[in-house]
Amino acid sequence: MEFNNLVETLLRSLKILLVLLLTSASLMFFLGYILIVGNSNSNDNAPIVEQNNYVKPDSNFVGLWPGPADWQKSKFNPEQQKLINYGKALIAHTADYLGPKGSVKPISNGMNCQNCHLQAGAQPWGNNYFAVQSTYPKFRERSGTTENQIKRVSDCFERSLNGKAPDSTSREMKAILAYIEWLGTGVPKNKAPKGSGIYKLKGLKRATDPVLGKVVYEQKCQSCHQAKGEGVLAADGKSYTFPPLWGPNSYNIGAGLYRISNFAGYVKYNMPFGVTYKNAQLTDEEAWDVAAYVNSMPRPTKDLSKDWPNIDGKPFDHPFGPYSDPFTETQHKYGPYKPIKDWKEKHKANKFKKPSLASL
Ligand code: HEC
Ligand code: HEC
Repeated sequence: MEFNNLVETLLRSLKILLVLLLTSASLMFFLGYILIVGNSNSNDNAPIVEQNNYVKPDSNFVGLWPGPADWQKSKFNPEQQKLINYGKALIAHTADYLGPKGSVKPISNGMNCQNCHLQAGAQPWGNNYFAVQSTYPKFRERSGTTENQIKRVSDCFERSLNGKAPDSTSREMKAILAYIEWLGTGVPKNKAPKGSGIYKLKGLKRATDPVLGKVVYEQKCQSCHQAKGEGVLAADGKSYTFPPLWGPNSYNIGAGLYRISNFAGYVKYNMPFGVTYKNAQLTDEEAWDVAAYVNSMPRPTKDLSKDWPNIDGKPFDHPFGPYSDPFTETQHKYGPYKPIKDWKEKHKANKFKKPSLASL
């Protein structure tokens, strides 16, 4: 009897202990959950929660081409070095020389090439120029011709800087070309080094959404680029501290950035300013939606009637018809893009299909 009582009490206290243990364990689990999940939602930069499974680094973001080092300029004569350095200055501070109040000639809108080609065109995945010297002259569908470096540089003056290109024989054009050639140092002909140009962001299943993009813009872009996208002029009134994203002083509808895929890929790994491919802040969805919002706003026009002489060569997100496929301008501009890409793929396959051996 005595013994039984003792066992009973012991068992009871064990039960209580067990219940206590379980409650405290679940409490800790709950708290941990709040801490981890709560944190990762509110702060994307929070250190990643311990993971046991090893994640292979995405090869798109390791071992990227760094571009040439300054000492490699020593192989050029002093005159040539001066020209290269002037070219870099023109890319970084275009408006000081060629903007509306530029010291050389007022032929562009006040933006700098560097606004979109970061670090004077030397930033991995920052729309750099590493592959220009190695891949031009090349055939481009937009003009339907084989374009050399002068034509490609002039295009950005006329579209992205909504202005005129410097004369092909001017010291300015020569300097820009010398600098671009220098940036291609060590890149084999016809090769594009890893990290050159703009990252091609994976598409969304749905259409991009300007309404969602407006929210992103207000939260993550507006503090610098301003509510009307007009940017902020520097104190000297010559160039921008924060460049305009739309309105009369921004890039025109013929510019590369007016394509939503280019814009999304550019901002994902470069904006808000200070971000690189190493510490992206925007989710893919935010990048696509903010691209849709910005490119839904008004901007300068341009006569594009001579572009894309072969309409079959238009990229999936070119926003102006006519098209060789049955999709609308709206779907081409905002997506969903997958049906368009699939259609193009199928069409191409049909066009080039060779008669199979069996049918011969
Ligand atoms: C508003 C943004 C913007 C500005 C400003 C800008 N560019 Fe561009 N540039 C682009 C985009 C976007 C592309 C890529 C277009 C594409 O792939 O369709 C590009 C492509 C180029 C290329 C070809 C790169 C390659 O690898 O094929 C060159 C060269 C170039 N730009 C030169 C310049 C020069 C020089 C200036 C200044 C006079 C300039 N850009 C200003 C957005 C801009
Ligand atoms: C902290 C300020 C800041 C914030 C926030 C910011 N940007 Fe920028 N942005 C800049 C600066 C500065 C440049 C020009 C970089 C240079 O010249 O080196 C720039 C350039 C750009 C350009 C290319 C030039 C142009 O005017 O078209 C685009 C596009 C752009 N930003 C989009 C965005 C988007 C979208 C966001 C929000 C997700 C954003 N930026 C947030 C400062 C900022």
